[in-house]
Amino acid sequence: MNVLLLGSGGREHALAWKLAQSPKLTKLFASPGNPGIAEHAEIVEIKDGDHRATIDFCLKKTIELVVIGPEAPLVDGLADNLRTMGFAVFGPNKEAAQLEGSKGFTKDLCAEANIPTARYERFSSAEAAIPALANFGLPVVIKADGLAAGKGVVIAETSADAEAAVEGMFDGNFGKAGAEIVIEEFLVGEEASFFALVDGETVVPFGTAQDHKRVGDGDTGLNTGGMGAYSPAPVLDDKSIDRVMTEIVKPTVETLANRGTPFNGVLFAGLMLTESGPQLIEYNVRFGDPECQVLMMRYKGDLVELMYAIAQGELGGMEKPRFSADSAMTVVMAAKGYPGTPEKGCKIDKIEAAEAKGAKIFHAGTASEDGKLVASGGRVLNVTAMGKNLKKARDAAYSAIEKVDFADGFYRSDIGWRELERS
Ligand code: AMP
Ligand code: GLY
Repeated sequence: MNVLLLGSGGREHALAWKLAQSPKLTKLFASPGNPGIAEHAEIVEIKDGDHRATIDFCLKKTIELVVIGPEAPLVDGLADNLRTMGFAVFGPNKEAAQLEGSKGFTKDLCAEANIPTARYERFSSAEAAIPALANFGLPVVIKADGLAAGKGVVIAETSADAEAAVEGMFDGNFGKAGAEIVIEEFLVGEEASFFALVDGETVVPFGTAQDHKRVGDGDTGLNTGGMGAYSPAPVLDDKSIDRVMTEIVKPTVETLANRGTPFNGVLFAGLMLTESGPQLIEYNVRFGDPECQVLMMRYKGDLVELMYAIAQGELGGMEKPRFSADSAMTVVMAAKGYPGTPEKGCKIDKIEAAEAKGAKIFHAGTASEDGKLVASGGRVLNVTAMGKNLKKARDAAYSAIEKVDFADGFYRSDIGWRELERS
């Protein structure tokens, strides 16, 4: 089968790598792709956001499955348009993608379906929001409603900071995403990521992971898209997973199906494991980046077959996804300046040497210049390795990272610290 993969990050490189291993694959196309993805796919140029051009490409190349990596095209309704034209798509339609596209949408759905999540209120003006801050105590969490590339959340420790955050959002600090906001109660606990595959009706767990959002060691410094991850995340034990499925994920999927707007694809639940049990922090409607990289390392099945079955509403007939019992870790190498303005153009070398002992390096922000690999984004490489346990996976990932020649690169040295301290 011919498959089109959309996206250009480390997540999409991991997906391309796994899709390319499938005996069911005839040819993989990717747009816009990156030099790592190019090892597994033919890179094609389809104008970003041009749904008509995407459909034309799929018709011309008889694409039988479209895999949409990032959230923006999903929230923009690309899956709807492809489905209307008869294509099988992995990824939700626009309305179901509101789970990520609007924080208020998700909170209202949680209220309707009695899903455990932080107490909240929605606002569309600073005048209404500021007096309500007093209902939440401190710290208080203030969120831009719409997509803000992972940056639209402020945790305010003082009333002054909270008011400034509210004012800033309505002043356009996050653009249109902040035209509405959600104020919510601060939850205390440990965070973990849970993934579920959904074909509209059937829901199947697809692994756990823990990300590291802050740029610096010891979880310090600015928020990023994620500086490293590992899977599985033992804090999400079988009992917690049962609770997450029963109390959070299944009611979400049922509510959307009952509304006539079923969810299709991967549902990524960001959870807070509180004293009273798991609570939903947020949903994403696509794989996590870099969580996807560690899931793909551990996943043992045929990804083309699995994604196609989901796209066709046939997940119920598939055997349960199998994962390696080993641990996987990925460490992000970022370019100096990230998460502010990263330095671009630095040469990258010795990838093969770093991969020699079984590590896998996924490209997140690289470009090819005169045949040489250079950094072209904030998060540049995802150095990923497996091991019998988390410590072995960690040692393998860090020993590979030391071999990579990337002068402007930096990385966190403590990925997995919570779990490693426990074990
Ligand atoms: P989000 O973009 O919704 O993932 O939020 C970014 C980060 O803010 C999360 O990963 C949490 O660390 C934190 N966060 C969001 N909502 C809450 C909350 N209600 N209580 C505590 N921390 C939160
Ligand atoms: N790593 C967090 C995310 O993909 O949203």
